[in-house]
Amino acid sequence: MTHQADAYRIKAEPYYQAQGREVALFEAAYRNRLPVMVKGPTGCGKSRFVEYMAWKLGKPLITVACNEDMTASDLVGRYLLEGGGTRWLDGPLTTAARIGAICYLDEIVEARQDTTVVIHPLTDHRRVLPLDKKGELIEAHPDFQLVISYNPGYQSLMKDLKQSTKQRFAAFDFDYPEATLEATILATEAGVAPELAARLVQLGQTARNLKGHGLDEGISTRLMVYAAKLIRDGVDPADACRMALVRPITDDADIRATLDHAIDAIFA
Ligand SMILES: Nc1ncnc2c1ncn2[C@@H]1O[C@H](COP(=O)(O)OP(=O)(O)OP(=O)(O)O)[C@@H](O)[C@H]1O
Ligand SMILES: [Mg+2]
Repeated sequence: MTHQADAYRIKAEPYYQAQGREVALFEAAYRNRLPVMVKGPTGCGKSRFVEYMAWKLGKPLITVACNEDMTASDLVGRYLLEGGGTRWLDGPLTTAARIGAICYLDEIVEARQDTTVVIHPLTDHRRVLPLDKKGELIEAHPDFQLVISYNPGYQSLMKDLKQSTKQRFAAFDFDYPEATLEATILATEAGVAPELAARLVQLGQTARNLKGHGLDEGISTRLMVYAAKLIRDGVDPADACRMALVRPITDDADIRATLDHAIDAIFA
């Protein structure tokens, strides 16, 4: 079991730039083993935060990318045919509950509701996971914690969590970092000069102002790190920005033109 836990342990400290009091608040949630939900747009640091917290708390981390085809068995486990017989294989949620890991279900709203309800008994006072097919009831390890993330921007009425699911979690609202913090992140992650990082942030903010005016979602910190890395590698800044910041996010000719102009102005 310890061996299995070691496989999921985060070896080196992940770089995480705090945006506020979230580190201390997460620690308080963990001390009380409260399930945690992290909401925010794509590429704003949710996964990095969870990795950092797992490292800081010294707990193994098991991440599951959720999707609409996912079934409860994908989380909990299933019997496999082997030789003449069958063998039970734990799913990632079961493994996390057994070894005392932090289980991070990424983009939980993508999963169907009948899948989502399997987390219910684990996320209230019971802290158990019934393996119906196996006829086993697992009591979660004392260190186990469930963390889920989702992007409220993609949320539709069809794809929202039920209140009975939502109301099992303490929640964090994440957003793109404030300008100076975001510049620090770019400089640290990509190794670019602060002055260049500041220009990229300025460009990112221009694009974020277009959200709702033709853009569904602003430019993420993740894409800005991509642009910074390309520039650091010697790519012309305007090319890097078009390739990493503009082309991925929109096919709309007008918005591309607006952003291309902003790039020329900022890197002229
Ligand atoms: N606060 C931060 N500290 C350090 N790096 C950050 C931070 N925020 C964003 N980043 C950078 O942005 C990248 C994307 O962040 P992350 O993968 O955590 O996004 P996410 O919110 O989980 O997005 P998604 O919803 O698409 O999974 C990271 O790889 C990292 O380079
Ligand atoms: Mg993520």
